[in-house]
Amino acid sequence: MWTAKAPANIALIKYMGKKAHNIPRNVSLSYTLDKFYTEVSLELTSQCDKYVGKEPLNPEAKKRFVNHLKYIKKIYNCEDFFAISSANHQILEDGSSGNFPHSAGIASSASSFAALTMCTFEAMGDLMGVPIPPVEFQSSVSRIGSGSSCRSFFSPWCLWRDKKAEKISIKIDKLLTDLIIVDDQPKKISSSKAHALVSSSLLMDGREKRAEIRLKNLLAALNNGQWENARQICWEEFWDMNALFETSFPSFGYTQPETIRILMEVRKFWQQNGDGPIATMDAGPNVHLLWQLGQTDLRSFFFRNYVLGNFSCLSQSIA
Ligand code: DP6
Repeated sequence: MWTAKAPANIALIKYMGKKAHNIPRNVSLSYTLDKFYTEVSLELTSQCDKYVGKEPLNPEAKKRFVNHLKYIKKIYNCEDFFAISSANHQILEDGSSGNFPHSAGIASSASSFAALTMCTFEAMGDLMGVPIPPVEFQSSVSRIGSGSSCRSFFSPWCLWRDKKAEKISIKIDKLLTDLIIVDDQPKKISSSKAHALVSSSLLMDGREKRAEIRLKNLLAALNNGQWENARQICWEEFWDMNALFETSFPSFGYTQPETIRILMEVRKFWQQNGDGPIATMDAGPNVHLLWQLGQTDLRSFFFRNYVLGNFSCLSQSIA
């Protein structure tokens, strides 16, 4: 039996819109969510490759997962069959672990495909007697399974452009993160479908350039300690992604009334305190908040006075 773990990641510059083999139409930048991870196990079995894990994946998701395993097996002409299991975990503040929901905008496809890729390469190493390939190669193979998974190989910050994802050094390299869960049910439109639909939006014109400009400005802001600028750029960026969704044909979106309410509370918080978190969203209704290490009191103040206890919140502190 082989096992591997890989973390989730949250993009501040979003991967939205893709070409063949999950090559992104624009650059993206992500922060690794080390405490949200997927563990994948592979066991030899007879007859055929199959998903036997307990995660409530729909048949399409299971098929995608199995196909990715087959893709890697083919590289090595491996004729063995595997039973795949996976489980999403979250390390809680007290060090114990719980689960996190899949398909709810926590990029669990990133952590699960990255873990499946790592695990399959390990199995190939043992069974076929081949060396485990370098992380760059593993990342690019993982991208074929699910684009955003190629970023989960590089922590804490990853820059992904075209076929290459790589670690990037940024001065602010440790953050506290919260995920405010508005709805933990699987989304109706998968991110893969969203990538296809957004190509119908007129706003795709200029998207590449907007992402490049924001990347440049965001890196400068984070490296120069200009937190408020960073927040503004990230705010523009996730609204840009939401605008792509809403201007597609047919239009779609993930925001719910409670999502908007939380985002407005975040804005009010900044206006009233002159400081606050970076907010961002994925293809889902939930809101991610990122804080600097020196903002712990501010963060407690926010949760006590602004977003009151109606939501569950998955938090990741630095141990
Ligand atoms: C909205 O990586 O899930 O989370 O390549 O089709 O598997 P596929 O898509 P996926 O897309 C993630 C999109 C996003 C933004 C991001 O993570 O950059």
